Amino acid sequence: MKAVVLDANDQFRIAEMTEPVPGPGEVAIRVAYSGVQYGDVLVREGHFPIPRPFVPGFEAAGEIVAVGAGVDEARIGEQVSALIGGGGYAEVVTAPAVLAINAAGVGPRAAAGFGWITPTAYDLINTVAGVRPGDSVLIHAAAGGVGSLAGQFADAAGAERIVGVVGSADQVDYAHRFGYHQVLVREEFPDALGEEKFDAILDPIGGSTRIENLARLAPHGRIVVYGNIATFEPVTVSANDLLMQGQSLLTYNSNLASQTNPKRLADSAARAMKLVADGTVRIDITAEYELADIETAIANLAGGLTRGKSIVRVG
Ligand SMILES: NC(=O)c1ccc[n+]([C@@H]2O[C@H](COP(=O)([O-])OP(=O)(O)OC[C@H]3O[C@@H](n4cnc5c(N)ncnc54)[C@H](OP(=O)(O)O)[C@@H]3O)[C@@H](O)[C@H]2O)c1
Repeated sequence: MKAVVLDANDQFRIAEMTEPVPGPGEVAIRVAYSGVQYGDVLVREGHFPIPRPFVPGFEAAGEIVAVGAGVDEARIGEQVSALIGGGGYAEVVTAPAVLAINAAGVGPRAAAGFGWITPTAYDLINTVAGVRPGDSVLIHAAAGGVGSLAGQFADAAGAERIVGVVGSADQVDYAHRFGYHQVLVREEFPDALGEEKFDAILDPIGGSTRIENLARLAPHGRIVVYGNIATFEPVTVSANDLLMQGQSLLTYNSNLASQTNPKRLADSAARAMKLVADGTVRIDITAEYELADIETAIANLAGGLTRGKSIVRVG
């Protein structure tokens, strides 16, 4: 089969490889499209000590063509979107059966775009922040992959007010397509909000933004920390101060969940997929590349030149 490999010289090249065979509890997927995500950039830049050659690609969509021991053979032929630890930029990939999420009725392009960001955004809003009808929600990086979905999931959960924060004026109109009632440019945060406080805040930013967010929590408010885009600088919070306001600081880590509790992650992913399939939530695919153009696809993401989701056509 054809696959992209990252070689010992940190170069991507297309290679001919043996098709992987599913082990116990796994399925083999004939890949139609794969999603491009930031993990590809981190691998490309050498942030993970991964043995070479390595086939990158952390989200693959296609058809199950074989199953390993312990997996129902009736799954052969099923269209899925798989959450994987690599191997997605290849014509065939193996995945844990539990994390090969049924994507019937979604189409292979959206199924590839679904990736990790959709279950993440679903869980941030529903499972972790527990957004309820009438809640107010503040979402940073609102024009990003997670942010563009989180706005829609918050809307679907019945949030009464959804405010997004983006990096530049041209992202404001873009973010408005995803359920937001108001979108601020970063420099306007938090002053443009006056004294407003929020029931739920999603914070992938860190540093001074995290401190401002904590000050914006309403009584019983929940802040969910799920990334450190701006800085890893530690932010200290007093549990007693939170207690006095009935507030909660929560975290979310989908990669960890895939290892420690894959069934729970799969359950969230299946619920998210239903909302994509019925059109409640839209995955905005803005760029499609060929397998041979993987270097460009990843460089564009790393350079902040993309919006929404990029995918790669494999099969
Ligand atoms: N914990 C988890 O389970 C989990 C799962 C998935 C993703 N994540 C994390 O979630 C974050 C977003 O992921 P994504 O896939 O949505 O990424 P993405 O599509 O690349 O979006 C990232 C966004 O970050 C914004 N940004 C860039 N630099 C910033 C800065 N210095 N301050 C504030 N915002 C900045 C950009 O907004 P503008 O373009 O508007 O400037 C961009 O839209 C990442 O940190 C990722 O690691 C966590």
